[in-house]
Amino acid sequence: MQINVAVVPVAGLGSRLLPATKSQPKEMLPVGRKPVVQYVVEELTRVGMEQMLFITGQGKTSIENHFDLNHELIENLRETGKEDLLAELDYERAPIRYFFTRQRQLLGLGHAVLCARPFVGDRPFVVALGDSIIGMNAQSDVVRRMADAFVENKADAVVAFEEVPMSDVHRYGVAQPKSNAELFELADVIEKPSREEAPSNLAIAARYVFAPNIFDALDEILPGKGGEIQLTDAIRKVIHDGGRVYGMCLRENEKRYDIGNFESYFRAFVEFALADEKFGPDLRQYLEELLHGNHS
Ligand code: UTP
Repeated sequence: MQINVAVVPVAGLGSRLLPATKSQPKEMLPVGRKPVVQYVVEELTRVGMEQMLFITGQGKTSIENHFDLNHELIENLRETGKEDLLAELDYERAPIRYFFTRQRQLLGLGHAVLCARPFVGDRPFVVALGDSIIGMNAQSDVVRRMADAFVENKADAVVAFEEVPMSDVHRYGVAQPKSNAELFELADVIEKPSREEAPSNLAIAARYVFAPNIFDALDEILPGKGGEIQLTDAIRKVIHDGGRVYGMCLRENEKRYDIGNFESYFRAFVEFALADEKFGPDLRQYLEELLHGNHS
């Protein structure tokens, strides 16, 4: 069974990044040279996804434009001899088909995923959050490893996890693992637990592989934390109904860069800019001078 459909939810308001996100999607904010969502699409293309469904919303059309061919721009760069810049648009030709649908009411991430049902049908599929990059320059194949584990274990879902400090568990869906292996079966998963309630410090990390029965669970659950239809609650329902749900830990070189708040956005931008082949070395020198107080 080949899993080649990815759903990328990008409909959220991004209110924690106001005013930057007043009239532009947070998924289009640059990290280094590229917008966040381009890294997500490149990661998914590299691991064999062939169809990509964006769950969009109001004010998100720049995402559609970003992945469309811009003939005028291409012509202009050709005519003015800027061939080197043309290479920057190579991603437009990735062997992938894009689809878009709107989440017309912002009822939460679970609801956004449910909007994919008519497109996905009875196929297994990947969900990748459009505001999170996995690994420096998105060099991660965790989705491929998750899809392999999904098939091998005849799973209902495989969810990516990363370790976070206990002081942060209240921000995430948190695992109750049955073992401490890299791939583990989930006994339970709890959305945004308090530190005391949290069964571990393993937090859901923006990538999922699902069997289509997740849609039934999403259909049946009631709004949870924050009054939203929570994807974590649907995963929990699949587990409680006897489904086989696995967690896969991100590896050391697969740090999750979450762009949803300024603290982690700033860190991600600086890390990616420092790793830039062309501009990184100068930036490093500049920052060192700045931090040591002798910048002229
Ligand atoms: P967040 O949980 O960060 O929510 O979404 P948000 O609404 O975007 O941000 P804040 O809380 O207002 O700052 C995680 C991912 O899920 C998508 C977002 O676009 C983001 O990629 N999402 C979230 C939806 O598509 N629909 C929703 O109703 C909520």
